[in-house]
Amino acid sequence: MQQKLKHLSSPFTLKNGTVISNRIVKSATSEILGNMKGAPTPTLINLYRRWAEGGAGLLITGNIMVDSKALGEPNNVVVEDKTHVELLKTWAQAAAGTDAQIWTQINHPGRQAIGLINRKVVAPSSVPLKLGPMSSMFAKPKALEEDEILDLIERYATTAGILKEAGFLGVQIHGAHGYLVSQFLSPRTNIRTDKWGGSLNNRARFVLEIYRKMRTKLGADYPISIKINSADFQRGGFTEEESVQVIKMLSEEGIDMIEISGGTYEAPAMMFSKQSTREREAYFIDYTEKARKVTETPLMVTGGFRTAAAMEYTLAEGAIDLVGAARPFILYPNFPKEMLNGTLEKVTLEVPKTGIKFIDERGLLELGWYEQQLRRIGEGKDPKLSLSPFNVLTATTRSIIQKSFRKN
Ligand SMILES: Cc1cc2nc3c(=O)[nH]c(=O)nc-3n(C[C@H](O)[C@H](O)[C@H](O)COP(=O)(O)O)c2cc1C
Repeated sequence: MQQKLKHLSSPFTLKNGTVISNRIVKSATSEILGNMKGAPTPTLINLYRRWAEGGAGLLITGNIMVDSKALGEPNNVVVEDKTHVELLKTWAQAAAGTDAQIWTQINHPGRQAIGLINRKVVAPSSVPLKLGPMSSMFAKPKALEEDEILDLIERYATTAGILKEAGFLGVQIHGAHGYLVSQFLSPRTNIRTDKWGGSLNNRARFVLEIYRKMRTKLGADYPISIKINSADFQRGGFTEEESVQVIKMLSEEGIDMIEISGGTYEAPAMMFSKQSTREREAYFIDYTEKARKVTETPLMVTGGFRTAAAMEYTLAEGAIDLVGAARPFILYPNFPKEMLNGTLEKVTLEVPKTGIKFIDERGLLELGWYEQQLRRIGEGKDPKLSLSPFNVLTATTRSIIQKSFRKN
């Protein structure tokens, strides 16, 4: 172990006594490796075995859906009852015998749901996504009724309870990136005039109620975390000042860990950054320093880390406790082990270009390209840097069409 990475390599203890063996965390990565019924496949389970052997302290799964009628993507894992519990148990055991632990991330897409694979798209308010020529892929959402909101809150807790029973060691509410929780928080997408919209206290009610229901179901000692936006990066959206307030509210409720990210489908700040920020690596670190002033809850920041040195000095500065990464884990599945033993200092991430300006400039195929690499790793292969981005178009179109014929 390298002495110069003493912060990165040191264990971290949560207030409930959970020990994370080092500070490197795989942030959630939607693997789209569920089967048509939403169960985890052997490919998905293998992928987590490979990552668990790669030296991370904590692996957070890709988003698991709380409702089979509301999918973010075809082949999401869905947990709404105990149908798949035996397969979930096998997945939860994928890190057995290693120093890694696995937590799950749970989600509902709200309006960020592809129309073709969902019969009904719901959101806090009927505000459609604006994605230029791609807008038509997403149906105009129907505003949720009060009883549907209460049902959804119950679903988050039910899903978390089943995942705990399956043996996962912690859970994360997906409160970022413009999905349902984030839609409730944002005044751009939540224009309700009842107790679920309007003031920040009202917009935060949905996530606070989810947290409280989960805590009751999971018990005082089970780690519950949230991934939350530092901001939406859109005019009239969820601001940094509001985000700091919500972090304070969740901390006072007793949440165990807060992961900071940012952006939505309309403004994907979680994946890209200005050149100046890229050089400093962690995209959201300035915000995290502000958050640190209002909470003692463990903080993690994700987005942009590429070198062991940046991870180490960001931890040493004290604003965060854990370092999150996603794309580095996909192209370098063993990077934590290799950074900690000094054989790797930096990861280099280059997604091949299509030559089509509209696609390349917006990184439209990037997510799908990484998802194809996840499948390769789960199949026991190595990531393939030369994989054509055009493969992604074919594979994505195929799975959307398959699912559209079998939607719930
Ligand atoms: C293929 C892929 C899938 C992702 N899926 C999720 C997800 O399910 N939930 C989530 O919160 N973030 C998801 N993200 C975002 C990452 O967790 C992370 O916030 C983002 O990639 C920035 O971190 P990085 O620069 O280390 O990649 C995904 C990213 C990629 C590349």
